[in-house]
Amino acid sequence: MQALTKGGFFVKRLYGVFILFLFMLLVTACSSDSSSEKKEDAGETGESTATGEVEIFSWWTGAGEEDGLLALIDLFEDQHEDIKVENAAVAGGAGTNAKAVLATRMQGDDPPSTFQVHGGEELNKSWVAADKMEPLNELYEENDWLDKFPDDLIDLVSMDDQIYSVPVDIHRGNVLFYNKAVFEENDIEIPQTFDEFFEAADQLQDAGITPISLGDKESWTATMIFENVLLGVLGPDDYNKLFAGEIEFDDKRVIEAAEIFNKMLDYVDDDHASRNWQDAAQLVADGDAAMINMGDWAKGYFSNDLDLETNKDFGYFTTPETEGDFTIITDTFGLPKGVENPDEVKEFLTFLGSTEAQDVFNPLKGSIPARVDADESEYDEYGTDTMEDFTESNLVPSLAHGSAASEGFLTKANQAVNIFVTQRDVDNLISALKNAAPEM
Ligand code: GAL
Repeated sequence: MQALTKGGFFVKRLYGVFILFLFMLLVTACSSDSSSEKKEDAGETGESTATGEVEIFSWWTGAGEEDGLLALIDLFEDQHEDIKVENAAVAGGAGTNAKAVLATRMQGDDPPSTFQVHGGEELNKSWVAADKMEPLNELYEENDWLDKFPDDLIDLVSMDDQIYSVPVDIHRGNVLFYNKAVFEENDIEIPQTFDEFFEAADQLQDAGITPISLGDKESWTATMIFENVLLGVLGPDDYNKLFAGEIEFDDKRVIEAAEIFNKMLDYVDDDHASRNWQDAAQLVADGDAAMINMGDWAKGYFSNDLDLETNKDFGYFTTPETEGDFTIITDTFGLPKGVENPDEVKEFLTFLGSTEAQDVFNPLKGSIPARVDADESEYDEYGTDTMEDFTESNLVPSLAHGSAASEGFLTKANQAVNIFVTQRDVDNLISALKNAAPEM
């Protein structure tokens, strides 16, 4: 009897639990209905309705690289409580490792929400041509961006009138940073020609100082020196023609550039092959070497990581015979096809293209903003000088940083340069480049 009573009690409790469960289901259904209504309302009023996560893929890790990225992520998350940003960065300067990881993901239909890609051939020949990117013309129109980015930059991220990415920065590649005290103590004048450059290098070497710091553990740093010598010897028009396939790699001026590059290698530090770019920049900061040809992410490294002062601790000048020219390196982000939440990614891209984001990122990165209407007061003298130079110079795309030629050609050029730095054989370098040229 008691058992029966007990059984009746359990049945009643079960019944009660069931009713409670139904009630909760109802409440959940109602609340999700009202939240989707809210979403529709918000959509109509243009408010952000996005919830979720956006993954940003880059190679900005470690000193001189990640400060700007982390500041961007913080600012975005402050402004968008409902979207988290996952920082998927793969270490290795110039994307040495990241580009391989990205290729695997893209081929496996697992694209990041957005990824760092250089404007020019790296974007166009690798990803746009393979039909992996969404056009962003509407995003540009909605944000009124068409006259906020320089035309040359929009051209670099466009193909057949479609715009495929949002530039966050403009780095300069044809710049030499130098230790001011070392130059002063040794009475070195800023060299402008190759002859003056080698005179200064001899003077420094005689004084027991390494003239040029190179960190070519990753070969792109040596490729940068070579591309800037090419620019100095050929001038901007013929430099462009070389990468357009209109001038041959065995042209006598390309051979002359290879010889000058060869001579420069007489002045580099002994352990160059074991250093990365930060280690090499550190040598200049410490006064153990006098100069380094590095993109101006090195400026970010000097200022933010090493606390050095522009034009007091370090100075800068354009690489020999490239005054009036500007080797552009631009980091951009686009929308890969097949991402799960394109609206949220567009929200993030809209942020990356804003003046606010660019003025937080670029002063830390050493670059200038890609937008023309940024707040100059956020930048030091290096930044304002570079902004001025950018508007007045002949712009040329960088080979080492993906803009001038396809990834296939760049990989072979980096290999050829790497071998050249050890073997110092001009003929071999020239024939390797000539053989790779059809892949440009
Ligand atoms: C470049 C990139 C820069 C900087 C540099 C060193 O390719 O455009 O933003 O990161 O590599 O890693």
